[in-house]
Amino acid sequence: MTNIIKPHGDQLINCILSGVEEQIARENAYSLPKLTLSKRNLADLECITTGIYSPLNGFVTEQEYQTIINDMRLTNGLAWSIPVTLQVSKADSEKYHLDNDIALVHPNGNILAVMTITSKFKPNQHNEALNVYRTADENHPGVKAIRAEGEIYLGGPINLINTIPQGNFPEHNFTPKMTREEFAKRGWKTIVAFQTRNPIHRAHEYITKIALELVDGLFINPLVGITKSDDIPADVRMQCYLTLIDKYYPKNRVFLGVFPAAMRYAGPREAIMHAIARQNYGCSHFIVGRDHAGVGDYYGTYDAQHIFEEFQEDELKIQAMKFEHAFYCTRTKTMATAKTSPSTPEERINLSGTKVRKMLKEGKTPPPEFSRPEIAQILVASMKEEEARPVS
Ligand code: ADX
Repeated sequence: MTNIIKPHGDQLINCILSGVEEQIARENAYSLPKLTLSKRNLADLECITTGIYSPLNGFVTEQEYQTIINDMRLTNGLAWSIPVTLQVSKADSEKYHLDNDIALVHPNGNILAVMTITSKFKPNQHNEALNVYRTADENHPGVKAIRAEGEIYLGGPINLINTIPQGNFPEHNFTPKMTREEFAKRGWKTIVAFQTRNPIHRAHEYITKIALELVDGLFINPLVGITKSDDIPADVRMQCYLTLIDKYYPKNRVFLGVFPAAMRYAGPREAIMHAIARQNYGCSHFIVGRDHAGVGDYYGTYDAQHIFEEFQEDELKIQAMKFEHAFYCTRTKTMATAKTSPSTPEERINLSGTKVRKMLKEGKTPPPEFSRPEIAQILVASMKEEEARPVS
């Protein structure tokens, strides 16, 4: 496995206790103050403890929070763009004391992990929003989420003492250790990762295939943690990915694994975090297209590409593969970008997840320039099912 890229900070973090240590920690955990985790916390806990967020070994401390917000670096100087925080309300915060252990609890009541509180602080969330999300607008889903999670932040290292219940896709959920083993088994050295929170439409297919021309393998790594309510649900998307890989990709050169992280919609800063996570999975390249991890019009089309230039060459080992806005060119009858197409803007069919969603809501089937017919069918069927579902 020596040829596969090293994790960010050189070591994969593994906060999972085992054997006697686990047994003792578990027995002690029952008497600790308990903190019930939100969906976002659960996603972060999984990413931290399995090493997806290496070198983080817990929720960020105040010092780390400050250097991340201000400099996009951890206190040791390593690149890191978004603080991974554990937040509680002021009233709840009275139960948790500095230098004490607390039990992190799944909403189903099971204790999952023990965290030592090495930092307890009340940051300036307005400042956090402006630096991380480039806006303090409460309509931004990421800004809304940090406000909703609570105003007091708890930081410190974590030890996992129980398995985090896997979502709907246990057979597609791989830790970085597992993906690295899988890539090595396949003999892949250069691997391009593709982040997505949408069904794969024709533009996605186009850029992933161009990338695949240049490397050994493609890691399709859809985000399946919490997303905003109008994004297409992960189970529908998984059907789309499996169908598409089956029909339209060379199966032996593609590997599908879910990314359990929560979506933050932080555009450029999230692109950096997405890239680092994929380096930890063992990928050498990372696709960044138009408005990566964006929402509404908070970010410029290529801001998520430009941000990579704010780091020195050796700070991020994974290489960004940057793609221009891809579209269907009616003149050449192929997918293209402005770099390769002679078309006028009128001859371009612009594809975006947002457009597909709008068409589906209007009961229309996306045309083949938007999406492969098999995928369009899955999406139309899922929309019908959703409409038929009684409002609870
Ligand atoms: S994201 O939130 O995960 O970025 P999405 O699933 O739409 O949203 O995009 C996945 C990746 O494909 C991102 O890198 C994004 O920039 C890129 N992308 C999406 N649509 C296009 C397009 N039409 N042209 C080029 N890149 C695109």
